Amino acid sequence: MRLDKFICKSTELDKQQALLVLQGKKVSVNGDLIIDPAFQVHDNNKVTLNDQVLVPRPFRYILMHKPAAMICSNVDEVYPSAFNLLTFENEIVNTEFKGSDSIALNSDEFHIAGRLDADTTGLVLITDDGSWTYNITLPNSGCKKVYRVGLSKPFKVELISQFEQGIQLQGEAQLTLPASIKIINSKEVLLTITEGKFHQVKRMFAAIGNRVVSLHRQQIGNIKLDVAVGKWRYLTPLEVNYESN
Ligand code: URA
Repeated sequence: MRLDKFICKSTELDKQQALLVLQGKKVSVNGDLIIDPAFQVHDNNKVTLNDQVLVPRPFRYILMHKPAAMICSNVDEVYPSAFNLLTFENEIVNTEFKGSDSIALNSDEFHIAGRLDADTTGLVLITDDGSWTYNITLPNSGCKKVYRVGLSKPFKVELISQFEQGIQLQGEAQLTLPASIKIINSKEVLLTITEGKFHQVKRMFAAIGNRVVSLHRQQIGNIKLDVAVGKWRYLTPLEVNYESN
């Protein structure tokens, strides 16, 4: 992990403040003064700030119910960032697993594992653990994502097999991985996919001549959306450690 990130993960400092303490020659790694923010820190390294040993806090894993008209980016753009909702007022306290509530939730440290479009609602997973994200977002991880899809035209039942066999998306060399469809009503279906290509769900339905008019993610792997719009909670250890295969 980069040294500036390590400092943020072990203190209340943000990235800018971490740079300042580095430039101020206050940080050592294994006894050597280091000022390079990109210096790589390894597990057995002893990092000190003003001679105090730094210990990174445990990773955090969060489930959020993203509303429409919010984006999965760390900064506000045309729409506000969903990270604005990451306040303790919006937290649903999970008695099974409580995160470290005394620690400020500095959105710079977090990223979203599998973004949703601004107009898509539902389950997003937020973490500061890059390797966890890597594992659940790898296309061959088999991690299932379940979407409730509203369509502009009635869905033709005979097209279910196309989703099972793979859909040819515009601009892609390969078919999509097998997906499954459950019909809710003529213009609403539940779609389960294991990949996360750019605008994948909308492009899958566009490829069969239909159009997505509403999209809501309700499940990722074994993690089901169970909080109200705009709310969030920490994941339980069972949810964090779930392996899809
Ligand atoms: N597929 C889409 O097209 N949009 C999303 O937000 C998620 C999956």
